[in-house]
Amino acid sequence: MRVPRDFLEKAKAVACHRNSDRWDLLYRILWRLAGDEKHLLELHGDPQVLKLNDYARTVAREVHKMKALVRFRAVKAGVAEGADDPRYVAWFEPDHDIVGYASGFFRRRFAGMRWSILTPRACAHYEGEGEVWFTGGVGREAGPEADEFEEAWRLYYGSIFNPARLKVRAMLAEMPRRYWKNLPEARLIPSLVEDANRRLAGMRALTKSSDEMQCGPRPAAPETSASARLTALQQGSLEHLALQAAGCRRCPLWEPATQTVWGEGPPDAPIMLIGEQPGDQEDLLGRPFAGPAGRLLDRALAQAGLDRRRLYLTNAVKHFKFKSRGKRRLHEKPLDIEVLACLPWLQAEMARVKPLLVVCLGATAARALLGRAVKITEERGRLLNLPVVDDAGSVRPTLLLTFHPSYLLRLQEAPAAADAYEKFVADLQLAKQVGAEGDE
Ligand code: URA
Repeated sequence: MRVPRDFLEKAKAVACHRNSDRWDLLYRILWRLAGDEKHLLELHGDPQVLKLNDYARTVAREVHKMKALVRFRAVKAGVAEGADDPRYVAWFEPDHDIVGYASGFFRRRFAGMRWSILTPRACAHYEGEGEVWFTGGVGREAGPEADEFEEAWRLYYGSIFNPARLKVRAMLAEMPRRYWKNLPEARLIPSLVEDANRRLAGMRALTKSSDEMQCGPRPAAPETSASARLTALQQGSLEHLALQAAGCRRCPLWEPATQTVWGEGPPDAPIMLIGEQPGDQEDLLGRPFAGPAGRLLDRALAQAGLDRRRLYLTNAVKHFKFKSRGKRRLHEKPLDIEVLACLPWLQAEMARVKPLLVVCLGATAARALLGRAVKITEERGRLLNLPVVDDAGSVRPTLLLTFHPSYLLRLQEAPAAADAYEKFVADLQLAKQVGAEGDE
């Protein structure tokens, strides 16, 4: 039997529709297509074709919602699973039976991670490789509790919210109320909507003053306005900066990346650690040093007696730069121009945190701050003075250069690996001493 490809595609979607007449509908259409109505699907006014298209559209909309609104939460793996890495678990309540149909998307998007999507009628699971596997539905109580990233979701949502574009009806169409209860950021919606008029009035006032400027005195020279912008940035709180950075378009790296990965740690941390750029996992999770390099760093920090929770961790470049190889996203070194484009964010973080000591993990961070090429093997382990950090001259932390944890990971079994790791721990111990002086 031959049927048009379009029918097969639609039938896959319609089979997920929860209305019990779907099989009857599909069978009737199949019967007619196999008979003498080969062009049936072109008869858009035919009641069965109308219904087929309507069901297929409904399911496609639901899949779109699932892709956009599933929120994973990190859940510690059970001992039985024998893994250190967390499993990412999401709870979702679709109106149609789309879990299997949509699972290919999640497998591609979250390749390399272990995840489960739980729903009341079916659950999909993936082990970071192989095939997605399925089990029956579960109750809400099996779903994950809020995790430490909950706040990050809210921060992200708040940052992409543009009051000038607020269209309540369009927003409700995109994120219908029935999904709100499972969305951490949805709690923000009422206050953001309420706030929108006030923020809009502020924007209008700003526009007016720049109009006035056009017929008034000449605008400031570019250097001055750049430094004024930087000063304005440095005056905001870290959270405010994170919100602004979430919408950063200063270089093209934002586009393929999932999100801006902002720094993390106490705003008064005595020590700031700066890496190069987020990796694959950091890009997905929105946290610095959350992947394999982060795990090596955690181990070395613990050996050096440093508590990660007391440190401020960030990167010289805040977007993941990569090239795609099939399902994998391979790290690419950022260009100088990309590091430069991101420098104001790093300077603003430094101006805000005012660390006593900045530890540059690897050459990219060192180059960003020193403004010259650096050989880590030659310059690591010594305390340096930072030449100029910000235009206002308010931040002069001591600088310490050391290896990047990814470099140590790449050394693996090489004879130099143990020696380099020891030096790395020794550098972190020195960092601890300097940081402790600030506590005295
Ligand atoms: N490498 C980095 O430089 N930063 C991260 O956050 C992760 C890996």
